Amino acid sequence: MSDAFKLGFAPFAAPARIGPSGVLIVFCDDGLKFGPASAKALGAVAGLVARAAKAERFTGKSGTTLELIVPEGLKAARLVVIGAGKSANLQQKDLLKLGGLAMGKLPLAASEGVVFAELPNGALKAEQAADLALGVTLRAYVFDRYKTKRKDDEKPPAKRNITIAVGDVAAARKAYVTREAISGGVLMARDLVNEPANVLYPEEFARRTAMLKKSGVMVEVLDLKAMKKLGMNALLGVGQGSTRESRVVVMRWNGGKAGDAPIAFIGKGVCFDTGGISIKPAAGMEDMKGDMAGAACVAGLMQALAARKAKVNAVGVIGLVENMPDGNAQRPGDIVTSMSGQTIEIINTDAEGRLVLADAIWYTAKRFKPKFMVDLATLTGAIIVALGQEYAGMFANDDKLAERLTKAGEATGELVWRMPLSSAYDKMIDSKFADMKNTGGSRWGGAITAAQFIQRFVADKTPWAHLDIAGTGFDSRQTDINKSWGSGWGVRLLDRLVRDYYER
Ligand code: BES
Ligand code: MN
Ligand code: ZN
Repeated sequence: MSDAFKLGFAPFAAPARIGPSGVLIVFCDDGLKFGPASAKALGAVAGLVARAAKAERFTGKSGTTLELIVPEGLKAARLVVIGAGKSANLQQKDLLKLGGLAMGKLPLAASEGVVFAELPNGALKAEQAADLALGVTLRAYVFDRYKTKRKDDEKPPAKRNITIAVGDVAAARKAYVTREAISGGVLMARDLVNEPANVLYPEEFARRTAMLKKSGVMVEVLDLKAMKKLGMNALLGVGQGSTRESRVVVMRWNGGKAGDAPIAFIGKGVCFDTGGISIKPAAGMEDMKGDMAGAACVAGLMQALAARKAKVNAVGVIGLVENMPDGNAQRPGDIVTSMSGQTIEIINTDAEGRLVLADAIWYTAKRFKPKFMVDLATLTGAIIVALGQEYAGMFANDDKLAERLTKAGEATGELVWRMPLSSAYDKMIDSKFADMKNTGGSRWGGAITAAQFIQRFVADKTPWAHLDIAGTGFDSRQTDINKSWGSGWGVRLLDRLVRDYYER
């Protein structure tokens, strides 16, 4: 995100300060009703709004907008009215969306905007106003660091100041502190996902996690020697065809009681996935720079938890590799011995994520004995066939954890849909030569056989959930709170899970 974006809170009288290039943004319900402060800010323009609404057939339906340019009687260059529909029972995801819509209505040239955190039934509560502000911040993100040739009219202004007008400024600011921490985590994850693989390779990813130390996270990087010593041959096999060395990064945030078992998050960090010797077709392969979205989420989550000083002990473990074909690359038919001691016959070198997770998950369970583990991975095309880009696939060996993730998903809008685990699928990954093979050989149930594979590395029956985020981690899934390619998906979901159930 450009440093030029600034968000602040001010009392409802703020529009008096909007400059002539500013934008005033207010919400109405589906009866075109405004809250008292908004109505007051509109003043004499109210009549104009009513006429414009009629002309535009704008009824205030949720998510629709009405725009008036240089309305007579208002100092602002532009007035934007956003429909909030019935606006009863607003959940966090609804407020984020309203904030995103508001930010989206700021034209490129606008250097300032004032968003009224008010609905017809009155000012938003501090927590709600803070969620609205989070939506604004998330939507304001752009990844443009490699754009050097923009024409003047394509450039954003040097500074963009967004003010959220609220009833109680102090309370809103206080509520926003946690949101700011969360947005920091989400934007960090998006940056990592958007970054190209020539820039972000395993060592560089590991270096970027060092930033977390500033927030009080302990960061430990395992190099090749350390991983070899641990016997992480499943992970190392994936990276052996790349000139970029593999890494595992362990991040620890101890905000909870000393000695309390931590909760753990594990991320697939394939910085680029060519498929290896089982090479992928050329079309769309560039997307595989995002095959580290799981690891990006884990890093972003650790950043968020630390920044908001979450009262929890949390561990993040990410397996960073690059899957390339070369003279030293792993071959189909190779057999590797994982850290767990279980042997794996490689059938398809493009089923590499599960190999990385196998060692990372085993290591996490054994070393940290966590209360539970959640792994995130852009693991299979099959989950996109099943669920598209709206829900991530969730597999869990623990009903309580699954239920909590589902609830956190509904609240945040980062949705998960539970898929089955069953030993009935195990025969698909039986191998003639080793303890198992790394693909089912058939495309049927591809996301399930992958999860079934990973489950074999969940040591000591640790409660565990696997999130297949191949459909949600990146790509065209543009939403009201994200117009960039990398989504940062999962940071808000898991922060919510931690907050609602494990923080004390
Ligand atoms: N990284 C891919 C999965 C993927 C595909 C993520 C599209 C995001 C978008 C993964 O490593 C992969 O290649 N999976 C294979 C597995 C197959 C070889 C069993 C797949 O899904 O085709
Ligand atoms: Mn692959
Ligand atoms: Zn992959």
